[in-house]
Amino acid sequence: MCGIIGIVGDRPVSDRLVEALRRLEYRGYDSAGIATGGAGVIDRRRAEGKLDNLIDVLDGAPLPGTIGIGHTRWATHGAPTKNNAHPHATDRVAVVHNGIIENFQVLREELIAKGHVFQSETDSEVIAHLVTDGLDQGQTPQQAAAATFARLHGAFALGILFSDEDDLLIGARRGSPLVVGYGDGEMYLGSDAMAVGPLSNRICYLAEGDWVELRSAGAIIHDETDAIVEREIRSSSVAAEAIDKGNYPHFMLKEIYEQPTVIGDTLNTYFNALSGKAHMPPMPFDMANVPKITIVACGTAAYAGSVAKYWFEQIARVSVETDVASEFRYREAAMPEGGLAIFVSQSGETADTLAALRYARSQGQHIVSIVNVPDSSIARESDVVLPTHAGPEIGVASTKAFTCQLTVLACLVLTMARARNAIDDAREAILCAALAHVPELARDVLQHDDRILSIAGDMVDARDVLYIGRGSLFPIAMEGALKLKEISYIHAEGYAAGEMKHGPIALVDDGVPIIVLAPSGPLFEKTVSNMHEVIARQGQVFLLSDEAGLKAAGDVPHSIALPDVDAFIAPILYALPVQLLAYHLAVLKGTDIDQPRNLAKSVTVE
Ligand code: G6P
Repeated sequence: MCGIIGIVGDRPVSDRLVEALRRLEYRGYDSAGIATGGAGVIDRRRAEGKLDNLIDVLDGAPLPGTIGIGHTRWATHGAPTKNNAHPHATDRVAVVHNGIIENFQVLREELIAKGHVFQSETDSEVIAHLVTDGLDQGQTPQQAAAATFARLHGAFALGILFSDEDDLLIGARRGSPLVVGYGDGEMYLGSDAMAVGPLSNRICYLAEGDWVELRSAGAIIHDETDAIVEREIRSSSVAAEAIDKGNYPHFMLKEIYEQPTVIGDTLNTYFNALSGKAHMPPMPFDMANVPKITIVACGTAAYAGSVAKYWFEQIARVSVETDVASEFRYREAAMPEGGLAIFVSQSGETADTLAALRYARSQGQHIVSIVNVPDSSIARESDVVLPTHAGPEIGVASTKAFTCQLTVLACLVLTMARARNAIDDAREAILCAALAHVPELARDVLQHDDRILSIAGDMVDARDVLYIGRGSLFPIAMEGALKLKEISYIHAEGYAAGEMKHGPIALVDDGVPIIVLAPSGPLFEKTVSNMHEVIARQGQVFLLSDEAGLKAAGDVPHSIALPDVDAFIAPILYALPVQLLAYHLAVLKGTDIDQPRNLAKSVTVE
C-alpha cells in the first residue's frame, strides 16, 4: 500500500517528484525512492524510512532527468529496507507499484530460471523483470507492458519507466486507483488527485483494467482488452494548499483543537440553524421505507459507524448492522433489496471499504458514503456523498475526521427519524438543540487539557490500559483504546462495561488504569456499578463524567467533570478527552505522534 507518482516532460522532475511524495506520505512512510530514465540508463535514489531521508540522499547526489517515477512505501512483502524500496529496476526498466502481486513467487521462479537476478524480497520486482524479459525478446515497451499485465494476479497501480525512452511512461491499474494529470507540455501519473493536483487541474481517473501510454504531449489510454479508449477528463478541485502545523508541535494536537470549528463547518452543511433542524441532500430512495441499514468502515471510521448504530436504532427505529470492511467483504452478508448501505471513510480510498461498497451494490443496496475527500474512489462510486468538512487530516491517528463523521451521522439519524415518524416534535427539538451546541461544548471540553495532561502523567508507566463504557459510549471506549495503541504503543482495550466481569476484570490490579466513560443518563448507574467492581479490586479508575455524575459516583480519586449534556451528543464530546489522553501519553513516551511506526493514514491494500 503505497503512493506513486510519475512525470514526463522537458524540465527536471526530481524536485517535483519529491514534493508529490510528500503529499502521498499518508499512504505509507516505510521508505521512499525516485528514478529517472530516458538517457540510456535508469538512475535511482532510494532511502529507508521517512521521505526526509530520501531528500538527504538527493542533496548529496541529485538526480537529473526530465522523465521519472517516485514511490512512498508501506511494506507488504519484504522488510522496510532500502533494498526493498521502490522503484525496482533492471538495467532497462524501473517500476513503482501500489498493490499486491499474488502470483509473484511463481513468476519469480520462472524468471530466475531464465537467468534474471533479483535484488529485493518484494512482490513488485517481478514486474520490472517481466517487462525487461519482453523487451529482451524484441517487444516494444507497449507490447512488453501489456503482456506483463496479462500475467499478473492481484491488485496493482503501476508506473513504468524505460532506460531508452525519454518521452514514454506507462501506467496501469487493476484494483488500485490511478490518475492521469494533463499539463502544458508535461503529463503526470499519480495514485490520487492529491498527488497530481498542484501540478495539474485537469485529471482523468483510469477505469478498472486500463493502461496508459503517457508522453509529454498527451496520453493514449487502453482498456483491459488493449483497445484504445477515451476517458473523461475532469477538472480537479484539489488545491495546492500549504498545510502546516501552525503553532502546534504536532498535526494531531492541531487537529484535536480544530474540532469545534470543523464540527461547526459540518453542521453548517447538514443543520439549518434557522429552522433548528437537521437536513440531508435529496436521496434517490425513500428514507421512510428503508428496510435495513448496514454501516461498513475500517478503524476509527468503523467506530463512528458503531456509535451511529445506537442512534439509528434508538432514535430512528431502524435496524442496523455494522461491520469492519475486511470482514464484511468476504462474509457474503444477506442484504434486503433496497436496503441502505453507508460507508464511512476519512480518505475515501481504503481498499477494504471500497470492496465492501462494491459488494453492497451487487446486492441491490442504496449506497451513501461519508468521506472527507470528496473526489475519492469511495465518493465516486456512491449514489449519495455526504462530505465531512474536517479539512485535510494529516496526523495518522484520526481525530477531527471522526467527530465530523459522527456529526454527519447524527444529522442523518435525525432526518431519517423525522421521515419515519419515529420521533415527536418535542424530542426532535431537544436533540437538535443539543447537536447545535456541540461546537461550543467541544470548546469547553478542550479546556480540560491541563487536567488530562496530569492524568497522563499518572499513567505513563502503565503496560495495559482498559477503557469502559456502555451504549454509545462503548464505541468511544474502543476508539480511546485504539488511539492509545496507535500513537503511544501502550496496550489498551475498550470494553462494554458490563462485559468486564466476563474476563477482563482478571487483568485488574493496582497497575492497570481503567478509564470509565460515564455521562449522566439512563446507563450511568449501571456503568458506575461496574466501576466500583473494579475499584474493589484495586483498579486505578479515571472517571469521565459530568458534575451530577461525579457527585453520584461517590469517592473516585481521579476524575474529570465534562459538560452536562444530553446522552445523544455525549459520544461526540467524550471522544475529545480520550484523544487528548492518548496524545499526552504519546508525548511523554516520546513516540512519533503524527507518523506512528508501522501505520499508514490510508490503507489501500486489503
Ligand atoms: C488507517 C488509519 C486509521 C483510519 C483507518 C480507516 O488504519 O490509520 O486512522 O481510521 O485507516 O481509514 P479511512 O480513510 O477509511 O477512514
